Amino acid sequence: MDGSLLLLLTVVLSAWAAVGDPTGPVHVDGAPPSKIAVVGAGIGGSATTHFLRQHFGPEVQVDVFEKGEVGGRLATVTVNHNDYESGGSIIHSLNLHMQDFVKQLGLKYRRSVAGKTAVFNGEEVILEETDWYLLDLFRLWWRYGISFIRLQMWVEEIMEKFMRIYKYQAHGYAFSTVEELLDSLGGSGFINMTQRPLSDSLLELGVSQRFIDEVIAPVMRVNYGQNVSIPAFVGAVSLAGAQNNLWAVEGGNKLVCSGLLKMANANLLQAQVTSISPLYSEFSTELPQYELNFSTAAGTSSELYDIVVLATPLQASVRSGVLFQGFNPPFDELPGNYHGTVATIVHGYLNTSFFGFPDPRLFPFASILTTETPDLFFNSVASVCPVNISTGFRRKQPQEAGVYKVFSPQPLEKSQLKALFRSYYSVQVTEWQAYPCYGSSEGLPPVELHPNLYYLSGIELAGSAMEMSAVAAKNIALLAYHRWNRQTDMVDQKDLMHRIKTEL
Ligand SMILES: *[C@@H]1O[C@H](CO)[C@@H](O)[C@H](O)[C@H]1NC(C)=O
Ligand SMILES: *[C@@H]1O[C@H](CO)[C@@H](O)[C@H](O)[C@H]1NC(C)=O
Ligand SMILES: *[C@@H]1O[C@H](CO)[C@@H](O)[C@H](O)[C@H]1NC(C)=O
Ligand SMILES: *[C@@H]1O[C@H](CO)[C@@H](O)[C@H](O)[C@H]1NC(C)=O
Ligand SMILES: *[C@@H]1O[C@H](CO)[C@@H](O)[C@H](O)[C@H]1NC(C)=O
Repeated sequence: MDGSLLLLLTVVLSAWAAVGDPTGPVHVDGAPPSKIAVVGAGIGGSATTHFLRQHFGPEVQVDVFEKGEVGGRLATVTVNHNDYESGGSIIHSLNLHMQDFVKQLGLKYRRSVAGKTAVFNGEEVILEETDWYLLDLFRLWWRYGISFIRLQMWVEEIMEKFMRIYKYQAHGYAFSTVEELLDSLGGSGFINMTQRPLSDSLLELGVSQRFIDEVIAPVMRVNYGQNVSIPAFVGAVSLAGAQNNLWAVEGGNKLVCSGLLKMANANLLQAQVTSISPLYSEFSTELPQYELNFSTAAGTSSELYDIVVLATPLQASVRSGVLFQGFNPPFDELPGNYHGTVATIVHGYLNTSFFGFPDPRLFPFASILTTETPDLFFNSVASVCPVNISTGFRRKQPQEAGVYKVFSPQPLEKSQLKALFRSYYSVQVTEWQAYPCYGSSEGLPPVELHPNLYYLSGIELAGSAMEMSAVAAKNIALLAYHRWNRQTDMVDQKDLMHRIKTEL
C-alpha cells in the first residue's frame, strides 16, 4: 500500500541503536563446523546466512540453495521498462534488523510519494483520508469514539515488549522454540495472543465493532488476505507495521537479500533440494551430518553438511519439494498451511465509476482498501510506484494510464478486470503462497527439527513480516552457534530482563 490512512494507526516509539554482538567465535570444545547449508534465499535465509557468518567467522563454508529467485517472496515485475514490487511486503515499523541491513549494505530508502487511502464497502467509499492529519484524527474520534486511542495504546504496549528481543539478541541469548521466544518477551499473554482471534482481543479492549469492520478488517485484508479472526498477535504486528511505505528499498526490497548473501560471502547454488537425510559416523550416534541431494540445471548432486537451516515453508500446501529421509522417529507433518494470494499488476485506466466517481479527475485516492463484503472479488487496489523513483517522478492521475496492484484471493476473471479498469495495456499475475493461513493450526512448528537441523519459517505462524523473519534468523544463528559450542546457559534462559540489567 502506498497510502497513509494507516499512518494514523502508527505507533511512535523510541528505538535504541542495535548494539554490536558481544559473542565472538569461541570454540569451547571440538572443531568449528566446516560446512553449513541454508535452504532458501528469501529474507529469512539471507538474513540467517549473514548472521551465521557473523557468529561462526570467515572460515566456515556457507552454501545457500535457492530453486527460484533470490529474494523469494520479495520480488519485482517489469511493466513498461520500470520494476514494481509484486510481493506483498509487510515491514515492521520497528524493524531494527532491517534498518541495520539497509545501512550496512549502503542501500537507500525509496522516496515515498504521497497518496490518499480510502475504504470501499462494495457500494461506496465509507472512509477517506484527507490532506489534514488532525482532521482525520477528529473524524476517527467522532466516528469511532475512544476505540482509536485504545487500539493505539494496545499496539504500543505489545511493540514495547516485542522490542526486548533486540536486547536479548544483542546479549547473545537464543530460544529453542517460537513459544519460548514469545514467552520471554510477553509472557503467557503473548502465547495466548497467538491462539486467540484478533476481534476477541479488540472487543475485550472496548474497541467498537464498527471500528473493527471499517478499519481493522480492511487492513487485515490488504496485509494478509484474511479476516479479523486471525490471531491477535499477527494482527498487532501488522497494525504496528502499517506505516510500510517508509520501508521500501530503492531498487527493490529484494536487494537486501542479494546484498546480504554477497556480504556474507556465501556460495549461492541455483538448485532444488530434493532430499535431506542424517548420516551417522561410527564415532557419533547422536550428532549426524546431513546429506542434501539437489538438482541443478546441470544434473543432480549431493553434499554433506554439519549444520542445516531450512528457511522455506515446509507445509504440504507449499510443495517445497524437500523429502526427509531416514529420520527416526520421522517428522510429523508440520502444523498449518499457506494462504494463496494473487497480486495482479495492471497497466491501464482505473474505472473510478466502480467506486462511485464517474469523473476520474475527481477521484482523489491512490489506494482503496475494502471491507469484508461477500461479493467483492478483490482485497485492495492501489496505484503503485516503481522501485526506482527519479527526482521528477509524480504519481499518475486517475484519468491517466497508470500501474495498479490488485490483491485478490483468486485470479481475476476477465469480466472482473473489465469492471475495475476502463481499459488496460498489460496484466501480470503473480500467485503467491504468501502467508500462513492463520488459525489453520493448533500450536507453532518447531525450530529444532533434529540436532543441528533448524527450521526458520515457523515464526510466520506467529506473525509474518520481514522483520519477524530477520528476528528468527538472528535467533537461529545464535542457537546454532550455542548448540555447536554446547553453551546451554545461552539458550531458553528465564527472566532475561533482570539478567541483562545485572550484566550491564
Ligand atoms: C486468552 O486470555 C483470555 C482472557 O484474557 C481468555 O479468555 C482466553 O481463554 C485465553 N485463551 C487461551 C487460548 O489461552
Ligand atoms: C474468517 O474466515 C474464516 C476462514 O475463512 C471463517 O471460518 C470465519 O468464520 C471468518 N470470520 C469472520 C468474523 O468473518
Ligand atoms: C535502481 O536503484 C538501484 C539501487 O539504488 C540501482 O542499483 C539501479 O541501477 C537503479 N536502476 C535504475 C534503472 O535506475
Ligand atoms: C542422495 O544421493 C546419494 C548419492 O547420489 C544416493 O546414494 C542417495 O540414495 C540419495 N538419497 C536420497 C534420499 O535420494
Ligand atoms: C465501470 O464501473 C461501472 C460501475 O460499476 C460499470 O457500470 C461499468 O460497466 C464499468 N466499466 C467501464 C468500462 O466503465
